[in-house]
Amino acid sequence: MEPQFWQQRWALNELGFQLDAAHPLLSAQLAAMPNVPKVFVPLCGKSPDMHALAGRYQVIGAELAEIACRDFFTEAGMTATTTSSGEHRIWQSGVYQLWQGDFFTLPAVAVAGTALIYDRAALIALPPQMRLQYAAKLQQLIPNAHMLLITLEYPEGEKQGPPFAVFANELPLLFPKACIQLAGIRNLTGQGFARRKFATSQLVEKSWWICW
Ligand SMILES: C[S@@+](CC[C@H](N)C(=O)[O-])C[C@H]1O[C@@H](n2cnc3c(N)ncnc32)[C@H](O)[C@@H]1O
Repeated sequence: MEPQFWQQRWALNELGFQLDAAHPLLSAQLAAMPNVPKVFVPLCGKSPDMHALAGRYQVIGAELAEIACRDFFTEAGMTATTTSSGEHRIWQSGVYQLWQGDFFTLPAVAVAGTALIYDRAALIALPPQMRLQYAAKLQQLIPNAHMLLITLEYPEGEKQGPPFAVFANELPLLFPKACIQLAGIRNLTGQGFARRKFATSQLVEKSWWICW
C-alpha cells in the first residue's frame, strides 16, 4: 500500500488493526525469545506489543505516520524527544526509539546491534510485490536475525487486503536462506481481527520463527 493510504488511516483514526493489549501469540513466545539487548519492530504503529517487548528489550520501531509515533508516547504517558537523521525523525523516550519515515529508506544505523525482529501486521499489511521488497529490506538491514512473524490466513478472494492472506508456502520465497518453524496457531474464524469483523469462511493467525 502506498504511504498516502496509511497516512489517511491514521488521520481518519481508521485503526481496525489496533490491538488493546499484547498479541496472545507474542505473549506465548516471550519466555522463549532470545536474550539479546534490542528488538526491531518494523511498521510498528502504536502497537501495545511494544510495551510487552519493553519488559525485556530496547525497542526500535519504524513507522511512517507521525500521528502513530506521537500517540504511542502520549498514550503511554511518556514525553518523547525528537531528533532528525536524514529523512527520518527519531522519537525517543526510555527504552523506546521510533524511527518515523519510510521503512524502505531506513538506514542500517537505526538497527545496528539488533538481531531480533517482531512483525505483527507489517508483512500482512503489504500487497505481494511489496512483501518481497519488505523481506529483502529486512534481510539487508539485519544480515543475521531471529524473527517472530505473525501471519494471517483466509481463503483468497473472500476479501480484499489489507490485511492480506500470507500462507506458509510464500515464506521460503520471501526468506530463501532462512530456517522457518511454526510456533503457534490461533483460530479466529467467526471472530474479529483486532477491531474488525471479517465475513471470511476461515480466519487463522499463525506465528513463525524465521531465522537467517
Ligand atoms: C496494519 S498497521 C500495523 C501496525 C502495528 N504493527 C500493529 O500491530 O498495530 C501497518 C502500519 O505500517 C505503517 N506503514 C505502512 N507503510 C509503511 C512504510 N513504508 N514505512 C513505515 N511504516 C509504514 C502504517 O502507517 C501502519 O501503522
